Amino acid sequence: MKRVSPLFLVLLVLGFFFATYNLLTMIIHYKTYTSEQWDFSNPFIQMPWNLMEGEGSNSKYHVALTATDAPYSQWQCRIMYYWYKKVKEMPGSDMGKFTRILHSGKPDNLMEEIPTFVVDPLPEGLDRGYIVLNRPWAFVQWLEKAMIDEEYILMAEPDHVFVNPLPNLARGKHPAGFPFFYIKPSDHKHVIRKYYPEEKGPVTNIDPIGNSPVIIKKSVLEKIAPTWMNISLRMKDDPVTDKEFGWVLEMYAYAVASALHDVHHILHKDFMLQPPWDTEVGKKFIIHYTYGCDYNLKGELTYGKIGEWRFDKRSYLSGPPPRNLSLPPPGVPESVVKLVKMVNEATEDIPNWDTLNRG
Ligand SMILES: *[C@@H]1O[C@H](CO)[C@@H](O)[C@H](O)[C@H]1NC(C)=O
Ligand SMILES: *[C@@H]1O[C@H](CO)[C@@H](O)[C@H](O)[C@H]1NC(C)=O
Repeated sequence: MKRVSPLFLVLLVLGFFFATYNLLTMIIHYKTYTSEQWDFSNPFIQMPWNLMEGEGSNSKYHVALTATDAPYSQWQCRIMYYWYKKVKEMPGSDMGKFTRILHSGKPDNLMEEIPTFVVDPLPEGLDRGYIVLNRPWAFVQWLEKAMIDEEYILMAEPDHVFVNPLPNLARGKHPAGFPFFYIKPSDHKHVIRKYYPEEKGPVTNIDPIGNSPVIIKKSVLEKIAPTWMNISLRMKDDPVTDKEFGWVLEMYAYAVASALHDVHHILHKDFMLQPPWDTEVGKKFIIHYTYGCDYNLKGELTYGKIGEWRFDKRSYLSGPPPRNLSLPPPGVPESVVKLVKMVNEATEDIPNWDTLNRG
């Protein structure tokens, strides 16, 4: 029999020891993680390992909603603010105050109903009809001029409805974002590289997100916002980029701007749900009603074809939807039913729902 070298035995014992040690620390990490306020079933798509040891951020965040004075924006803001007030005080919510950042340059008829901060639009013509290009400029102005008590900010949009109390999902200086399946920086390398130079690292450093929904430390957003504005204007100015990104250009601009500042987002799949694709509300926090919901009377989705029953925000471009919309037929997913019920509750309770902006 061959003699086994003592060195080999020592290495074997050490190896065994370290393997056990690693396993134990993993279990310990797992346990700390589960004992925190978020359960382990919460699906993080991206969560840097070192963050698991960190403290959760339980400080309050300010809800910041960028909007215009168009009736289409206004009715959505009224529903959005209604549900903010409802969930704000619920256990588990870290919501602070609320501001509608109105980037139309002048007050409108909702100033009394919704806390509002008026900022300037971009100079005439600069947005080329792409209104959302005003968002970064709106945030730059608001951050510079407004008194904001909270340390964190949630960037929200008018077609968001808070369906469950939303905790501060950010952790320290790491913001939380929602992964959009259609934001794929790696598929647009040639364009992205115009704004994100090689020396910054691989294109995969860019998160598949937009600016909303994002919960972010105010001091971090103060750094990103001017870059976001600059990048979005440069992207819009470049015909190739403009054509390639289309209506999601401003989302890419935010994703690139944050990566340029070495900011990486925790990607939180439960942040938001998007009917009709997401059928269950479950523990998710925000219903985003950007897609039309079209169904036949058997409760089957007829996406892309006007359904016998439908709810689509774009049906109400010039004024608010009427109160008491008809509920979907049996068989339609819970998320869609919940959305329509929440819209109905808001429009029922908001004073002057039918009279404002009708005419
Ligand atoms: C963006 O920033 C660059 C470098 O600071 C500057 O040269 C450029 O003029 C800016 N572009 C816009 C549209 O603000
Ligand atoms: C809403 O409409 C339904 C019919 O679709 C009706 O039965 C119900 O009474 C209405 N509710 C309110 C509050 O108007």
